[in-house]
Amino acid sequence: MFQGIPLLATLALALAVAANPIVIRDSPVTLPIAKRFNFSGDKTLLERDQARAKGLRRSAEARFKGTFHEDPTSVDVINDGVTYVAVVGVGSPATLYNLLIDTGSSNTWAGANASHPYKTSSTTKPTGDSVEVIYGSGVFSGIENNDTVSLGNGLTVSNQSIGAADPPPLTSGFNGVDGILGLGPVGLTQGTLAPHVNKLIPTVTDNLYYQGIIPQNVVAIFFQPTNSLSNPNGELTFGGTDPSKYTNDITYTPVTNVSPASAYWGIDQHIGYGGDTILNKTAGIVDTGTTLILIATDAYNTYKNMTGGQPDSATGLLKITPPQYAALKSLQFNVGGTTFELTPNAQIFPRSLNTAIGGKASDIYLIVADIGSPSGSGLDFINGYTFLERFYSVFDTTNRRVGLATTSFTNATTN
Ligand SMILES: *[C@@H]1O[C@H](CO)[C@@H](O)[C@H](O)[C@H]1NC(C)=O
Ligand SMILES: *[C@@H]1O[C@H](CO)[C@@H](O)[C@H](O)[C@H]1NC(C)=O
Ligand SMILES: *[C@@H]1O[C@H](CO)[C@@H](O)[C@H](O)[C@H]1NC(C)=O
Ligand SMILES: *[C@@H]1O[C@H](CO)[C@@H](O)[C@H](O)[C@H]1NC(C)=O
Ligand SMILES: *[C@@H]1O[C@H](CO)[C@@H](O)[C@H](O)[C@H]1NC(C)=O
Ligand SMILES: *[C@@H]1O[C@H](CO)[C@@H](O)[C@H](O)[C@H]1NC(C)=O
Ligand SMILES: *[C@@H]1O[C@H](CO)[C@@H](O)[C@H](O)[C@H]1NC(C)=O
Repeated sequence: MFQGIPLLATLALALAVAANPIVIRDSPVTLPIAKRFNFSGDKTLLERDQARAKGLRRSAEARFKGTFHEDPTSVDVINDGVTYVAVVGVGSPATLYNLLIDTGSSNTWAGANASHPYKTSSTTKPTGDSVEVIYGSGVFSGIENNDTVSLGNGLTVSNQSIGAADPPPLTSGFNGVDGILGLGPVGLTQGTLAPHVNKLIPTVTDNLYYQGIIPQNVVAIFFQPTNSLSNPNGELTFGGTDPSKYTNDITYTPVTNVSPASAYWGIDQHIGYGGDTILNKTAGIVDTGTTLILIATDAYNTYKNMTGGQPDSATGLLKITPPQYAALKSLQFNVGGTTFELTPNAQIFPRSLNTAIGGKASDIYLIVADIGSPSGSGLDFINGYTFLERFYSVFDTTNRRVGLATTSFTNATTN
């Protein structure tokens, strides 16, 4: 539909530069992450995000029904429009892989690229299980190994259960990455092994904690807003938070009990626009793999009405005029007793990237979009990347809670 941007060469360079993490033992461990855009292809950004929302919902519903291994999702879960990649070592000596960071899945695996397969070494111990995860837009199959996984300089997890992918076409749909670093709750690994279908696979974060390498079973994510295609602009912290990246106290809220959001990093949240409720307190998720902020159709219709936005067919997003932008009010996300204010500038797509998503350079597009189902469905919003680049996020397995905090970019006007 529109042209992709030849940015991967620049990104490879950015990644190489970014892959020089600061490591402090017995305290949080921080890894740089790089963002990649790929808006080429025949789907709009909105269609990709809606497909992921649908895939996450179906996958969790199948899990709650206990039919997860008979009823694989057939819709996209991996959104390859915007991805975040960390460099992770496997084996000894370590082979380095670019793994996609995903809070919406929990298996970790490598070997998607036939030219850079999973390399076995003295630390590789096959567990005897085969593994398969169907992501809708792609599939990964392979065997499960125990192996050494290194996150940065000398920081290693032993006996990590990790997938070694079969070469394409058995594993397919993962262009430009070697695999996935699964940061979701461990329950999402159930049903992925055979013959041990009901076995859970401790995540990399779980093992870092169990092996005493990090002090808490916590992952925190910082994204800096970017208006270019190639910024290495994020940071992943294991075992705690990085106080240099947030500006006020972190507000924690329990993982919601409402399914299907409860299978993921689900929270309860109320959303207001200019002080008026557009979505009463309800369950949804915080997700690195969704680009936009998706809200239930009824809330979206109210937001559309209040902002005057008109759907744009090229991007799928709401388009507003300069006077409507000047009149745009803040959105209020009320979570765990704190109000997180998303400014008007934070509600628009970075204008310098408009043409990369098929839009016009001079137009103004809103990043709040329709999730594709009415409220009350148990997954009524997704606070995606455009939210997470304004608020620091903490995924705390020990206390089954999600934390959010403002950053020095919360009120940035970079868009
Ligand atoms: C970009 O996404 C399209 C599908 O939308 C895919 O066909 C293409 O291979 C991707 N390119 C890269 C470099 O990831
Ligand atoms: C894999 O690691 C787990 C956890 O440390 C251990 O229980 C299991 O015996 C290991 N399996 C192999 C084949 O090394
Ligand atoms: C890893 O698993 C092996 C058995 O396969 C065991 O001997 C060893 O103690 C384990 N190491 C850790 C750190 O769990
Ligand atoms: C696959 O791996 C080869 C060898 O490391 C590398 O040159 C190539 O760029 C990789 N392909 C992608 C799409 O990342
Ligand atoms: C929110 O809940 C209140 C009280 O039940 C109700 O009056 C109001 O209409 C609801 N607002 C929305 C946008 O659903
Ligand atoms: C949108 O505004 C129109 C006219 O002001 C009103 O009739 C309609 O009910 C509104 N729709 C929503 C979903 O708020
Ligand atoms: C953002 O701006 C609002 C209103 O101007 C202010 O109340 C708030 O403290 C600012 N937040 C941050 C994190 O700077």
